[in-house]
Amino acid sequence: MQIEIPVIAIDGPSASGKGTVAALVAARLGWNYLDSGSLYRIVALAASRGGVALDAETELAALAQRLPARFRQGQVLLDGDDVTDAIRSEACSAGASRVAALEGVRTALLELQRAYRQVPGLVAEGRDMGSVVFPDAALKVFLTASVESRAQRRYKQLIEKGLPVTLDDLLQDLRERDARDAGRAVAPLQQCADALLLDTTAMTIDQAVGRIVMWAGERFAV
Ligand code: DC
Repeated sequence: MQIEIPVIAIDGPSASGKGTVAALVAARLGWNYLDSGSLYRIVALAASRGGVALDAETELAALAQRLPARFRQGQVLLDGDDVTDAIRSEACSAGASRVAALEGVRTALLELQRAYRQVPGLVAEGRDMGSVVFPDAALKVFLTASVESRAQRRYKQLIEKGLPVTLDDLLQDLRERDARDAGRAVAPLQQCADALLLDTTAMTIDQAVGRIVMWAGERFAV
């Protein structure tokens, strides 16, 4: 008999804190963790380094299919080069959002993402984890927060890093990204009918992690 490897799918908009929350849930459970957004970011970076245009779907899909990326102790390596910080740049965020809208790229990354489903379980985070990549996930969470509080959190992070940003610019940027991620034709960001809503506007990270671990306890023998 084949044993089903459990998956927790966490989807939600940009800057909702789902990356931090998902990584902590995975650590608490001792499960594997997939940050699917980083794959789109790596495709965008590999394209810009390789001189591939961000709308050249066939070439981008081929690039995604044989992505020479590796994850090692919190580091992201592209062709052996440490790109952990480079993929978080504003240019890469914008590029990722563009390549993520291409069906060929999304299809090319499907198998790679599903390969993360390893024992004892997987916490996968992104936009289409519950709807497309792991539709059979036994726990699906739609993690969100108001756009104002997401902008405020991002503002605090960037100011702490000494980066010159304004709250108004961040708000506008988030609204644009939300509209692009939710409005695209392929795999748009959406709350699945079977996903539990977790609005973290008035919650701390610890509270959000605790809630998901509690839901996991109700569904899996963890
Ligand atoms: O989560 P993130 O900000 O690192 O994602 C980067 C981009 O990739 C963002 O524009 C949304 C897109 N993305 C996606 O389309 N599907 C996913 N499963 C994850 C991210």
